[in-house]
Amino acid sequence: MGNYETYKYDVVVVGGGGAGLRAAIAVAETNPALKVALVSKVYPMRSHTVSAEGGAAAVIKENDSFDEHCSDTILGSDWLADQDAVELFVKEAPSEMIQLEHWGCPWSREPNGKVAVRPFGGMKIERTWFAADKTGFHMLHTLYQTSLKYDNVTHFDEWFATKVLVENGRCQGITALELRSGQIRVIAGKAVIICTGGAGRVFPFTTNGAIKTGDGMVMAYRAGVALKDMEFVQYHPTGLPGTGILITEAARGEGGILVNKDGYRYLQDYDLGKPLEVTDSRHPVKKTMELGPRDRLSLAFMKEVEKGRTLSGAYGEYVHLDLRHLGEKKVDKKIPFVRELSTKYAGIDPVYEPIPVRPVVHYMMGGVDTDIDGAASMPGLFAAGEAACVSINGANRLGSNSLTELLVFGAIAGRAAARFATEHPELDLTALQKQGADEQERIAKNFIRKDGGYERVATLRQEMTRTMESGAGIYRSETSLKETCNKLAELRGRFSNILIEDRSLSFNTELTSALELDLMLDVAQAIAHSALARTESRGSHQRTDYPDRNDEKFLKHSLAFRTDGAPRIEYKDVIITRWPPAERVYGR
Ligand code: FUM
Repeated sequence: MGNYETYKYDVVVVGGGGAGLRAAIAVAETNPALKVALVSKVYPMRSHTVSAEGGAAAVIKENDSFDEHCSDTILGSDWLADQDAVELFVKEAPSEMIQLEHWGCPWSREPNGKVAVRPFGGMKIERTWFAADKTGFHMLHTLYQTSLKYDNVTHFDEWFATKVLVENGRCQGITALELRSGQIRVIAGKAVIICTGGAGRVFPFTTNGAIKTGDGMVMAYRAGVALKDMEFVQYHPTGLPGTGILITEAARGEGGILVNKDGYRYLQDYDLGKPLEVTDSRHPVKKTMELGPRDRLSLAFMKEVEKGRTLSGAYGEYVHLDLRHLGEKKVDKKIPFVRELSTKYAGIDPVYEPIPVRPVVHYMMGGVDTDIDGAASMPGLFAAGEAACVSINGANRLGSNSLTELLVFGAIAGRAAARFATEHPELDLTALQKQGADEQERIAKNFIRKDGGYERVATLRQEMTRTMESGAGIYRSETSLKETCNKLAELRGRFSNILIEDRSLSFNTELTSALELDLMLDVAQAIAHSALARTESRGSHQRTDYPDRNDEKFLKHSLAFRTDGAPRIEYKDVIITRWPPAERVYGR
């Protein structure tokens, strides 16, 4: 590795997905004099936002209200969401969605020309806007083309961010590996916004793209910022076995049903209750069991496995998602991508055959601990989107809240970072360059020049994902979590003997895989240790040894701090405004 270069910006946005693009646009709009660097490890249109399918929630119809959206979100969160953040989110959501339309997003329409909405899990009222079932693709495209209009936004595509730079107790930029040259560069910035998404890749079956390895979360964590609520990992009830590819909840929103090996609609046996005909005139939707919240549906699947009522395949147990009764016309109009994905990746045409599905890891409710403005505890550091935990999702996110969240809090974090950069003085470039040189040396010494390594990235990675699934999956216990924590400590030790055979500089994917594994081991430890410490069950965190929710002790956010050994876990209060904790009841 040769010399490094230094770039100087006002705001550095890390991550080129929906949150990063929205944040960059917000900075550019807030103060056109600010220079923005948008750093992405892939070309932005390949960011994971592109694969979001079902839609984005915001109040738009006459039968809906901000209070209804808030209460659905808080109930879904099992009361772990901060209610001030939820209220802000719900209030800002419609204008962000309309703004996106003005930038060119083709929201699907009703025959009368009004924006169409569809039902989604855990939402009592239809409020999910969509663009067929390629909503993420259209949103990302809209945001990307809009970002190109701003001369003060510079794109650093295919740059892998490695470290947050801290000088004088303040975040002052990042280092990034320019993948084409293999060189570490310093990108100085008066404010940095982390928008790198989640880390579903620490598990073996996930809807998440290969790039979702928790990079930004760990950059903040290693700089001393807490990761909040990491034990809350969302399983989406309908992924394709094997690949984990998402079969959108919209398929159930449009009327698809889940059946077990006997063709029985098993959800009627669980505490989502019977199909509920909602009589309240403001709620004209006929609610069905398949539109329960995701945590409850995934738990019901596990119970079906225990009862021996699921099907067995090459990738474990599964059930069927049956869409046949919807008919070809509706499938092709409303959920064409479901048909395309099932046909291409499972060899099943859902118009004629049921789709095999199983719960797969989909979303991290936890992330970088931020306040309601997206600011982390370190001055100058901000986060938004799945990488952040504001928190509006608490212990379980409702489907279609995350696309809206990345717009609302991407914009809020962008504006806050712009203010911070405007008010703060110039950077100490000499000190930052010294840190850049140290980072370059760290990567060269530990990976590129390293001799005598023998542990393979693929082996360690597979052992990590297996232990996460077996010990920190849908159901957890003290025994399973301790085994996982011990295994992760062993893997962390073995990582120091990593073998890198490819010594080339340009697009060295063996090196980037090793860097990602290094980051994922930190994320995995934060998840497993936070889960071990939370001795209750809440939302997506289900402990077989502590089956009940314990508000007295755990109506709190967990905060994982990095140490040289196991993470240190602390707690802080949840913000309750108008919705006091109550029993979480659906469909009864
Ligand atoms: O099923 C889906 O389309 C996923 C949506 C979401 O996670 O918000």
